[in-house]
Amino acid sequence: MTVIRSLITGCGSYLPERILTNNELARMVETTDEWIVERTGIRQRHIAAEGETTADLACRAAEAAMKHAGVSASDLDLIVVATATPDNTFPATATKVQARLGMTGGAAFDVQAVCSGFIYALAVADNFVKAGQSRCALVIGAETFSRILDWTDRNTCVLFGDGAGAVILQAGGGAGDAADRGILTTHIHSDGRHHDLLYVDGGPSTTQTVGHLRMSGREVFRHAVVNLAQVVDEALAAVDLPASAIDWLIPHQANKRIIDGTARKLGLPMEKVVLTVAKHGNTSAASIPLALAEAVQDGRVQRGQLLLLEAMGGGFTWGSALVRW
Ligand code: UT7
Repeated sequence: MTVIRSLITGCGSYLPERILTNNELARMVETTDEWIVERTGIRQRHIAAEGETTADLACRAAEAAMKHAGVSASDLDLIVVATATPDNTFPATATKVQARLGMTGGAAFDVQAVCSGFIYALAVADNFVKAGQSRCALVIGAETFSRILDWTDRNTCVLFGDGAGAVILQAGGGAGDAADRGILTTHIHSDGRHHDLLYVDGGPSTTQTVGHLRMSGREVFRHAVVNLAQVVDEALAAVDLPASAIDWLIPHQANKRIIDGTARKLGLPMEKVVLTVAKHGNTSAASIPLALAEAVQDGRVQRGQLLLLEAMGGGFTWGSALVRW
């Protein structure tokens, strides 16, 4: 053993009970099931119940991931929650999760990179593990985007939903090459010049309100295709592997057409892509761990396989990670 690797030893997810279908949405705004399915691949989304918060969803996903990994709260020394829809402006949602799980030591904080949040949180936690500062980290993506949507704006309200996913990272050893198990490489980027293409028009320091999500969808789409192609190439180059080595592409689930485009550029058949967007829409930071948990639970992802995770979101932010399961 020559290097420390973060092994993903467990994963879990949670979707709120209430399902909102495209047909129900078509009774709220001028849209159709056909339009939404054709342009996005989304068929339904889950909506948190009244009083059900991001921390509630995060805890359900965390408990499932901890059970899967066989770890308890006393084993954890770090919690990173990726969210753009925290319970409160402060303290961090992660500290609420920490208290609920009964973890009294270590550190817990939030990371805010919107739809790229899970990749950012994974990169942060992986670096803590590699630096020897964490042995067992809980990384969560959790969102209640239903609370920041303008339900009269058909351009955005049909796209998003609520949910949470979580993974457990544990320090392990590796030889330092691409055959190692664990997180092999992470890459994160941002370009703040594109703030106005995807943002929330409120906040404590500006309007003292929570605000609503605003998006120039077509522009975001255009940037997503370019940035995602760049960041997946960067990840493969970092470990000197060809795209053909990828067993599963587990992308941020925003729009099936963006995912198709990334897979096509990589030369990957759709059979190697984990697609869950139809079931829960864009759940922002929660979407990658939701997709991962599904593919692990149903047995698609097998030990030793190479997973490519990627995401793009407001900021703009974007990122990728290569993981050997
Ligand atoms: O997660 C992070 C970031 N988010 C994304 O990755 C989202 C990126 N963007 C997208 O996914 C797509 O751009 C959308 C799904 C938002 C839109 O698809 P599009 O193919 O880019 O459509 P468009 O913006 O070119 O709009 C086409 C038409 C417009 O009508 P006009 O202006 O051509 O007359 C829209 O008004 O579709 C109209 N439209 C709708 N029609 C029915 C927009 N929303 C709807 C709707 N139902 N819900």
